[in-house]
Amino acid sequence: MLLAVAGCGGPFPQTTFAPRSDLGVAVDALFTDIFWWAVVVFAIVEGLLLFVIIRYRHRDGGGKPSALHGHTALEIGWTLAPALILVFIAVPTMRTIFATQARAPAGALRVEVIGHQWWWEFRYPELGLVTANELHLPRGKPVELEMTSADVIHSFWAPGLGGKRDLTPGRTTRIAFTPDSISEYQGQCAEFCGASHANMRLRVFVQSDSAFAAWVAVQRTDAAVPARGSLAERGQQAFAHGPCIACHTIAGVPQARGTVGPNLTHVGSRTMLAGATLPNTAEWLRRWITHAPSLKPGSLMPAMPLPDDQVAALIAYIQSLQ
Ligand code: CUA
Repeated sequence: MLLAVAGCGGPFPQTTFAPRSDLGVAVDALFTDIFWWAVVVFAIVEGLLLFVIIRYRHRDGGGKPSALHGHTALEIGWTLAPALILVFIAVPTMRTIFATQARAPAGALRVEVIGHQWWWEFRYPELGLVTANELHLPRGKPVELEMTSADVIHSFWAPGLGGKRDLTPGRTTRIAFTPDSISEYQGQCAEFCGASHANMRLRVFVQSDSAFAAWVAVQRTDAAVPARGSLAERGQQAFAHGPCIACHTIAGVPQARGTVGPNLTHVGSRTMLAGATLPNTAEWLRRWITHAPSLKPGSLMPAMPLPDDQVAALIAYIQSLQ
């Protein structure tokens, strides 16, 4: 009992029972609807069963029960009642299934979502910006996520905002919704995609129009240029002339044009690292740079056995990329 009740402790950042978008509300309403039909069926069936068990239990001297054959009214009843209940479930289910496949209205914000082993790339083609793992959306505006994968099948799932949708290489899938509450949502990949499937998490920040516009304005700019002679400037040199550029882009740093890993132009402004699994702090950056594969098994990011002073400079530089 205690173990069962412990499940009620919370918090539940990935609950599906607190929908905060039109899509989430529609799915939740359907679930609730079906749940109550199931309660009605359960109560009737179990009630009848209990009644029969008690009313017709064996009694000494009670004799043999009489058998019943071919009761037409009963047979019509127990055929029609479930059929009717199935109709009441099927109609709203079909309606909701079609609603979940609907395209967003014209003028919706379009975001391209590309799944990678094991992180998320978010591209806003109309706004000219690229980020990773942390999706920012304005509240109250319809959004359409256009999804594909760079390698294997992944599945985008931010439970607070709606259901899952697969990201399939060579195909484009879509999901459309309108977030209705300013908040931060957690999500994760929901399709087994390799060793670090569990480390492929994501966050969605639903913001006011002004906060979203401010975020967009920052993200569209080139990377911050570190002050002359600063530790961050040494980090920039190490970055631009080291192995990092093979995989990462930093807008404004001509050498850094890699596209295998996340775009780092504004990585300092993100709250999390490494597929939204680690807090974006100096200490976790240090561990990530020097031991990425032990934090994310199978990671394409190799361990970088760099001297301490170079790691410190890289951390200062990455943190300056606000
Ligand atoms: Cu990507 Cu599981």
